[in-house]
Amino acid sequence: MRHLMSPMDLSVDELEELMNLAAKIEEDPKAYAHICDGKILATCFYEPSTRTRLSFESAMLRLGGQVLGFADADSSSAAKGESVGDTIRVVSSYADICAMRHPKEGAPLVASSKSLIPVINAGDGGHEHPTQTLTDLYTIYSLKGGIDHLTIGLCGDLKFGRTVHSLITALVRYTDITFVLISPEELRVPSYIRDDILSANNIPFTEVEKLEDAIPDLDILYMTRVQRERFFNEEDYLRMKGFYILDKEKMALARKDMLILHPLPRVNEISVEVDEDPRAVYFEQAKKGVYIRQALILDLLGLTK
Ligand code: CP
Repeated sequence: MRHLMSPMDLSVDELEELMNLAAKIEEDPKAYAHICDGKILATCFYEPSTRTRLSFESAMLRLGGQVLGFADADSSSAAKGESVGDTIRVVSSYADICAMRHPKEGAPLVASSKSLIPVINAGDGGHEHPTQTLTDLYTIYSLKGGIDHLTIGLCGDLKFGRTVHSLITALVRYTDITFVLISPEELRVPSYIRDDILSANNIPFTEVEKLEDAIPDLDILYMTRVQRERFFNEEDYLRMKGFYILDKEKMALARKDMLILHPLPRVNEISVEVDEDPRAVYFEQAKKGVYIRQALILDLLGLTK
């Protein structure tokens, strides 16, 4: 039995297999419509979500399976003090696979150690969000035709953004990737990403503050939201919130084939006027999240064909 806690749980070859399977599902969804008949996915979400929870549920339903779960901690027995370990022991009797989101870093890992079914980390605090990374990689793979030889700008809250941490960790294994890390001083990537992942693997990267300086060189611009829920005080959040706003004027500086990705939700960091730009692929990215999660569910349940 396998769990998914981090993108590093999957080798580059395994990622390739998953993306190939996702592409087949995307091309011919009917061929996979009953492969999970009789299977149940539990979504245990202790923190808010739209895309991750609903795309997991959509993925299982589109495979012919069923879903159950809770969307916030207060509607579960966590509100009475139950541990994630006890919860997953019980959920193991009700479902065949579980996607869990939790505000505490490492909580899905603790759950996986007690679980009798595969557990997928659907986001743990400011730590990792591996299925968002699968979505991001699959989007790049589909729309750019591969993941090598790219200059990738990551912009916004690089300190608390778990999607950024997981994506960098996964991308350093590909060939000829250059990172441009665009953030205010206070929201730079944690030192473990800079030192233990980028520098330790000799990955070229620069850290800049101005988006306008970086955007002309990018193949991919990965925008992120400043995460209100991770700030200790509202004043700091409000100061940082309007730091980056991608608008038509900045897009005029970008390459014609640059893609804009965003894990969503967006607050104000991408102006809605950019949505009509063919380079804005963030809604397509959210859609592709369903196909890659279908592929992941099949893989973890041992149902790949
Ligand atoms: N991208 C993402 O994790 O979105 P949700 O918080 O809506 O699940």
